[in-house]
Amino acid sequence: MSTTLNDRGQSSPAVLSLSGKKVVVVGGKTGIGLGIARAAYAAGASVTVASRRITSVEERPDLVNYEQMILDVRDEGAVREAFDTIGSFDHLAVTAGPEFGSWGNFMDGDMRGVRSYLEGKFFGSWACARYAAPHLRQGGSITLLTGGLAVRPKIGFSAVLAAFSAVESLSGSLALELAPTRVNTIRPGFVDTELWKNFSAEEREALKEKVRNSFPARHAGTGDDIGHAALFLMTNPYVTGTVIEVSGGENLVPSVF
Ligand SMILES: NC(=O)c1ccc[n+]([C@@H]2O[C@H](COP(=O)([O-])OP(=O)(O)OC[C@H]3O[C@@H](n4cnc5c(N)ncnc54)[C@H](OP(=O)(O)O)[C@@H]3O)[C@@H](O)[C@H]2O)c1
Repeated sequence: MSTTLNDRGQSSPAVLSLSGKKVVVVGGKTGIGLGIARAAYAAGASVTVASRRITSVEERPDLVNYEQMILDVRDEGAVREAFDTIGSFDHLAVTAGPEFGSWGNFMDGDMRGVRSYLEGKFFGSWACARYAAPHLRQGGSITLLTGGLAVRPKIGFSAVLAAFSAVESLSGSLALELAPTRVNTIRPGFVDTELWKNFSAEEREALKEKVRNSFPARHAGTGDDIGHAALFLMTNPYVTGTVIEVSGGENLVPSVF
């Protein structure tokens, strides 16, 4: 969407429509990425979701509205090939990220886990932006994704914090280098997704209850909440180079984790 002046010299009102647009969500088959895919589809876009596997619609009927593509963000050649195959499109969101847990505290172990995390989160986001950018149409945008750890350090999560901070810095730099393509980052707080699958059902429910009781929004975030923010970033022509925190006010209260 771009702002146009009508015959009275007024700008047109804000419309969060992606009608006629094509959106690619890398990591879009689950969790936060799926929330973004759902929001884009509901706003009228055709949506491609890319990740390391194709899932049958028999197994996941909710994926019926999306074109699926195989893509491992750690493989630069595969990323370039995937975007060459996709061709022209309008908006990119990259939510793919490695699972937590392949590293320990800073002084534990060696650097393999850290390198592997950065490979998936930071270099993966970099590669997607790098090879998608030439295919983005006028008015297009890139949305990257981090998390509250970027600014709220926690013992044992140095690799995640470093990767998230690097992604946020990258998005500011790309907003300049790729202009007028707009580049932004969403920094979510707790979101109830498969990222928490190693928790038992009871532990996960208890965590959500803590979130509902302590976060100022009194709500445990969902992928759709992040999808709502992504739709804003894709459709607002005046937002670029920014990081928006979508965390129910997690930044204002002591950690519940
Ligand atoms: N949930 C939260 O509370 C929360 C909070 C803050 C930040 N975050 C961050 O948000 C991001 C998304 O997390 P989520 O909660 O949506 O988790 P999720 O449901 O586990 O989603 C991760 C997605 O990334 C894809 N993926 C993983 N590695 C990939 C690779 N190498 N190449 C391509 N796709 C890959 C996975 O699909 P395949 O397995 O099919 O490849 C999956 O669809 C992560 O970076 C996470 O750290 C999450």
